[in-house]
Amino acid sequence: MTFTAADCERCRRDFPSLARTFNGRPIAYLDGPAGTQVPEPVIEAMSDYYRTANANTHGEFPVSRDTDRLLHETRVAAAAFLGSPDWRSVSFGQNMTTLTYSLSYAVARALEPGDEVVITQIDHEANRGPWLNLPERGIVVREAALRPDGRLDLDDLARQITKRTRLVALNLASNALGTVNLEAAALARRLSKEVGAWLFLDAVHYAAHFPVDVVALDADFLLCSAYKFYGPHVGLLYTRPGLLEALRVDRLRTQEEEAPWRIETGTLNHAALVGVKATIEYLASWGTGATLRERIVSAMEGIAGYEHGLGVYYYENMGRIPGAAVQGPDFSGVRAPTVSITIEGVRPIDAARALGERGVQVWDGHFYALRPIEALGLAERGGVLRAGIVMYNTREEIDRLLEGVEALASQ
Ligand SMILES: Cc1ncc(COP(=O)(O)O)c(C=O)c1O
Repeated sequence: MTFTAADCERCRRDFPSLARTFNGRPIAYLDGPAGTQVPEPVIEAMSDYYRTANANTHGEFPVSRDTDRLLHETRVAAAAFLGSPDWRSVSFGQNMTTLTYSLSYAVARALEPGDEVVITQIDHEANRGPWLNLPERGIVVREAALRPDGRLDLDDLARQITKRTRLVALNLASNALGTVNLEAAALARRLSKEVGAWLFLDAVHYAAHFPVDVVALDADFLLCSAYKFYGPHVGLLYTRPGLLEALRVDRLRTQEEEAPWRIETGTLNHAALVGVKATIEYLASWGTGATLRERIVSAMEGIAGYEHGLGVYYYENMGRIPGAAVQGPDFSGVRAPTVSITIEGVRPIDAARALGERGVQVWDGHFYALRPIEALGLAERGGVLRAGIVMYNTREEIDRLLEGVEALASQ
């Protein structure tokens, strides 16, 4: 299924916040990697929950049973979104970072002093910080290097995985550079399997742009966050069936012991979870196919093609602006439509502020992906200026961004 500029115009009508203006011009939301806008059916589903089904779970009365049913339906939809055949593999949490901390405590209990965990220089701190606490328990953390072109050094990644490796933590796409790490993930999978290590994939940025397939990735853990793909602020965790039960997670004795509930501490954000189901259905409505999974994959492939086209347009035109430089890989292969630049003589924070005044929302800095920004030597310069393209962005918005960057570069 293709997703065209006309489809984009059509989808824009579904996002009420896109009608907002600043200084008489529509706002260009190019800040999607930090959180996307939310379409009306998702807002409606969340308000509807409060209007009609708001109760705690597992009660012996109809409204509670409605909540149980709705949360179960979200789990089934989320399993389809992640390509998992088993809804029991999907747990919910506050966000990816909090889920990762919870898992890191449980993983630490399963490891012995001298065991090793591999992290990378391309990862967001959410997939580094929790693992970097493990040396307190005698666990060794090793780090795979980033190359100056914004791609992981695969030889170094292979070197870091040893007989003592018990877990490899890696993102599938970088929220700072747009790099897609499928090749690295496949290598990490092969090598980690040989030594009996778990593969822990951060799909937060990836899942916003590409269909996720936990089976093809052969992931032990995979996490993403619905607010990056047009949904509310909820974290999703896939765990390989059987694995969560084997981990000593922090849980109350009153809490369910089985997966997927085992790691879900306290009362969840029910309304937001109901919104996650509506989000997945909204995305799927742009695809074709007999099953929800088929429609999700078809829609996301179409949207990815559209986003890639706009990304190439931005990348190529940016290359013509003297003083502007893209930080990260080119568009010759698979790449997320998230493009970071530096402008000679202009600090990213000043550029973002100036663009903000033009109603163009882009982020400056490191976006919590501090390590890749440090590794590229950009931290002292204030990081980069990041534009993220999603399904509702238009060519006209990219033109406005390019005009703004050109004005800044020629100052
Ligand atoms: C690649 C990546 N990983 C992890 C995170 C953290 O996600 P959350 O906000 O759900 O904790 C982000 C958020 O920006 C991200 O982009």
